Amino acid sequence: MKNREIVRVVTSHQQREGGGFVVRRPLPSGAYDDADPFLLLDEMGPIEYAPGEALGAPDHPHRGFETVTYVLEGEAEHADSAGHRGKIGPGAVQWMTAGRGIVHAEMPSRTMREQGGRMHGFQLWVNLPARDKMIAPRYQEIPREKIPSRTTPDGLATVHVIAGEALGASAVIETRTPITYHHWSLQPGAAVDVAIPPEHSAFVYVFEGELSVSGRPLRSGQLGVLGEGEGVALAATGRAQALVLSGAPLREPVARSGPFVMNTEREIQQAILDYRAGKLGGIERSVTSHDNPQGERR
Ligand code: FE2
Repeated sequence: MKNREIVRVVTSHQQREGGGFVVRRPLPSGAYDDADPFLLLDEMGPIEYAPGEALGAPDHPHRGFETVTYVLEGEAEHADSAGHRGKIGPGAVQWMTAGRGIVHAEMPSRTMREQGGRMHGFQLWVNLPARDKMIAPRYQEIPREKIPSRTTPDGLATVHVIAGEALGASAVIETRTPITYHHWSLQPGAAVDVAIPPEHSAFVYVFEGELSVSGRPLRSGQLGVLGEGEGVALAATGRAQALVLSGAPLREPVARSGPFVMNTEREIQQAILDYRAGKLGGIERSVTSHDNPQGERR
């Protein structure tokens, strides 16, 4: 196997998002903004919230791509204009295909907002090919126990396979274009060769400890862009965790404005008009009598 080597190291920067929560963002970052088909990667936390402190992203729209939320610690709550409501806890993934558009709110769960707690997770944005940008929105919400995972025979490296395959396990999530999304946890002394389809663009993001990536060190908060090859050799002398991401590049024009990612400027203008005209919908907030005995609307 020809190993892919790191051709570029990107150190994530801190960024404020949504209602004001802080993320570590390696992509986009400075001059690194072309990871086709990936548009953004945010690491939320780890952060310890006091009661009443937890922040999220209230109602906002998306069109033309997918948002993938992976919770490691804590609990996230979701509501949208299509009437979908969900809550995902540690180890769970929500793969949301915005397609032609939704308006949604992504918040820490009510329990976390009221009582506080520790939050850690990721949000990845995956671009959609031109032919899929206006498809109907779709959700794949997968609890921890349904995300395939495997451990190497020596017990030192474990992978959770969110998309693609690893160590003989195939993901249950369906992607519109070929994507690999692995979460690797390495114990001291672990060494593993990870196959990555040669035609994919690929990177590794370390979020705990330090890893050797095809012989080059990468520490927590750093993203290593991988060059050509068939896979990557991961090794750790201490405890380390990383995401391995790869995808078939779309090689299409990208027009991007905040929560809309299309192919042309004209399509972006249309998305803004449609959103302002209410065509992406709004979140219904009538509450049940159980939550609100007076039956008032809030
Ligand atoms: Fe969102």
